[in-house]
Amino acid sequence: MNNLLVRAARGERTERPPVWLMRQAGRHIPEYREIRSNHSFREAIETPEIAERITLLPWKLYEPDGLVIYSDILTVLEPLGFEYHVESGVGPVVENPVQGPDDIERERQDVRSSLDFVGDLLGRLRTSVGNRTALIGFAGGPFTLASYVVAGGVSHRHDPIRRFRVEHPEAFRSLLETFATAVRESLEYQIEEGADVVQLFDTYASVLSRSDYEEFVQPVHEEILSDLDAPSIVFVRGMDGKIDLLEKTGADVIGLDWTVDMAAARRQLGETPVQGNLDPQFLFGDEEFVRRQTRSVIEAAGPEGHILNLGHGVHRETPVESVRTFVETAKSFEWDE
Ligand code: CP3
Repeated sequence: MNNLLVRAARGERTERPPVWLMRQAGRHIPEYREIRSNHSFREAIETPEIAERITLLPWKLYEPDGLVIYSDILTVLEPLGFEYHVESGVGPVVENPVQGPDDIERERQDVRSSLDFVGDLLGRLRTSVGNRTALIGFAGGPFTLASYVVAGGVSHRHDPIRRFRVEHPEAFRSLLETFATAVRESLEYQIEEGADVVQLFDTYASVLSRSDYEEFVQPVHEEILSDLDAPSIVFVRGMDGKIDLLEKTGADVIGLDWTVDMAAARRQLGETPVQGNLDPQFLFGDEEFVRRQTRSVIEAAGPEGHILNLGHGVHRETPVESVRTFVETAKSFEWDE
């Protein structure tokens, strides 16, 4: 695979920036809501035919340079002994959350065979799109997963996991380690099954203090990301002022949220490729606004090793027309020789 996205992830100069959107698979697309009205979330991600249809919805509308598989960061919970479902309007619910420091090690199942629907999905996608676009696999980061299993679901400021870290630091560490091992295996499996690029989403990890982040999170990120057989992207929301910690993970590409100044990040990171970072809310602006703001991200990032994306996932109510403008702005951009 040698498409623009993979080349940018390797740090090459590209004639225009490759483009995709976090959370592009569904949600903001009307046809997605129709599909979901007939299937639960778990059923949709675990049935390869349905997941394939949903993954391809943005392909049919925009032909982005990468297709992120329709799946979830929570899929890895099941082989580790946690049951979950997603409740609409509430978010993920973990049915058997961690009860205390002695409840970390549960009976496990093999990660690969538990995630065989993901492998099946990647195979189908390759057959459908060939090498016309990159297939993007992903997994959740240990801190974000730990936050869900300790709180039992969504939590305010991640207070339960931060308290768990204080009261049971060794159990906290071993929970992160357990997730790291499973997440690495999941990413390796996705690469074997055809993912061209993989992204680690440890969305919530920035709620820790810098020293806790360095002590607990950074090492597990390194463990997950070092020496994978495909380019990797790391994304943590809210890392403005701390992007040096993302660079240390060994990820090939550093994801930037919209609060990070692109030009300043480039100066700081040198040749390390970056992804991002248009504010997702900007897609609620008019066409001229979307085009101008998108161009300004592209120009601030420069022609080498930049993957154009939003600074976080696309919002549910985002107009399809705005997403099209965003993608088209990248596709019609040309760097001078
Ligand atoms: O384009 C895509 O959406 C790709 C697949 C994808 C999903 N979730 C599908 C999904 C990806 C990359 C994720 C990542 C994810 N999931 C993260 C990290 C990245 C981020 O953006 O923060 C987190 C923290 C989760 C956990 C999760 N799963 C939440 C918080 C929710 C509910 C929130 C919501 O928007 O409804 C889910 C469910 C979920 N995962 C949905 C989708 C499309 C919504 C289900 C639905 O309503 O149909």
